[in-house]
Amino acid sequence: MAEPQFDDIAACVFDAYGTLFDFASTVARCRDQLGDKADRLNAIWRAKQLEYAWTCSLMGRHSDFWHITGNALDFAFEVLGIEDPGLRARLMQLYLNIDPFDDVTPMLERLREAKMKRVILSNGSVTMLVAATKHAGIGKLLDDTISIEEAGVYKPHPAAYQLAVDKLKLPVHQICFLSANGWDTAGGAAFGFQVIRVNRTGQPAEKLGVVPAAEISSLSELPALLGL
Ligand code: LAC
Repeated sequence: MAEPQFDDIAACVFDAYGTLFDFASTVARCRDQLGDKADRLNAIWRAKQLEYAWTCSLMGRHSDFWHITGNALDFAFEVLGIEDPGLRARLMQLYLNIDPFDDVTPMLERLREAKMKRVILSNGSVTMLVAATKHAGIGKLLDDTISIEEAGVYKPHPAAYQLAVDKLKLPVHQICFLSANGWDTAGGAAFGFQVIRVNRTGQPAEKLGVVPAAEISSLSELPALLGL
């Protein structure tokens, strides 16, 4: 039996980086070259990537997520005193072919069996998302992959979330939005989705005035929560 707020869900919409794909796996694969700088690089790179996305949208000067990801990496390299074009190229290629979390494929297969629609909505560019879903082998498990490029503005702007409503042709209350990024769950909840936060690392709740309808520590919990 589904939890009350999820008993009318017709589609699950997933954030990509951090939720389906493990951005920390990219740096982890280069730990041999990064040594004790790996953890700081990962933290600075991710923080700057998001900061640049939000800043570009607030400035009204859109730049796609591939360029933003590269610019954020360049900033992180400068902070850490790394000058290595070969390592930069290796990290960017690994980001393109980013690893999925282990709980993704079995969950998508279960939702497909239950005939629940499955869609990605991500800040990533189309090229990035095509590469990531192909590398993860989940392209055939998704009904659609939506990049915010169509809106020209990054999540958590409402116009980004509206893309999912327009593509699915469903009312917001029938859409379950899942993200591991607290800012993204706040944006989705403010927009009107039924939101589930995927909190694998026990992060505290965001203080943004809007809270997700539920929280799970693994995507393996999703089918039961939906009553599937
Ligand atoms: C995404 C990450 C950036 O939109 O939240 O996939």
